[in-house]
Amino acid sequence: MPIFYGKASLMDYLKSIKTADSTIGFVPTMGALHQGHLALMKKSLLENNNTVVSIFVNPTQFNNLEDLAKYPRTLEEDVKKLDDLDPKIILYAPSVDDIYEGNVLSQHFDFDGLENQMEGKFRPGHFDGVGTIVKRLFEIVTPTNAYFGEKDFQQLQIVKRMVFKDKLGVIIVGCPIHREQNNLAMSSRNERLSEQEREEAAIIYKTLTAAKEKFTKQSSRKITEWVKSFIERNPRFTLEYFTIADETTLLSCTKKDKNKKYRAFIAVLVNNIRLIDTISLN
Ligand code: PAF
Repeated sequence: MPIFYGKASLMDYLKSIKTADSTIGFVPTMGALHQGHLALMKKSLLENNNTVVSIFVNPTQFNNLEDLAKYPRTLEEDVKKLDDLDPKIILYAPSVDDIYEGNVLSQHFDFDGLENQMEGKFRPGHFDGVGTIVKRLFEIVTPTNAYFGEKDFQQLQIVKRMVFKDKLGVIIVGCPIHREQNNLAMSSRNERLSEQEREEAAIIYKTLTAAKEKFTKQSSRKITEWVKSFIERNPRFTLEYFTIADETTLLSCTKKDKNKKYRAFIAVLVNNIRLIDTISLN
């Protein structure tokens, strides 16, 4: 499997394999690969001539240094998973210096307010970091199609907005959430949970499906109150936020409009590990 640690050699290689009508599919990741990542890659492999995967734990999108330090880094196992999936995958695993060239700072973005909701409220600067790295990776990889999971639905909407506003010419493909056997959304952070916490975290999806049931009958405020008490019955769990929001603007739903699409978004802290999930409501 071709592996590149520097952008110059990756760009030379991509140039050498490019033909007039070939396409590049791109799956950006921070590693600790799970079935959710592999599903994005399978889709990219089906839909493109070449697939590039990046593994890079991007420091500028972490507002919490402990979270950055504890983020799982499993490059050797990740390489094996990629090679088993398809040895034609092209891996880019850069160093911080290869990406930031000594200037580890985010660009500031205006995502038309999408960045101020939910994750943006609780992780200041997070989406500037995401915008910075995704844009830089797009410049290096020059993908035709780029694949993102719907678990990070706000990120997906923000990347789409950035591509539109900055005319980046990449097609953004959103892909469904992959779940563990107990329906916990797959995430690299799940590796940090104890076995008991991982089992108990099944409550997050249970809460979302119950909220979906309540959606037609109860107000958002009432559902939100119920979610908080339901989640926090377990003293190890703290609800960071639960929001019912318009899928396009990500603004909280105060009054339901039958012409709009709504989603519930949740972030829960389990022993200081942040887990997020989302569900479409109508
Ligand atoms: O979703 C992620 O893993 C990251 O936010 C991304 C898109 C790879 C950027 O670092």
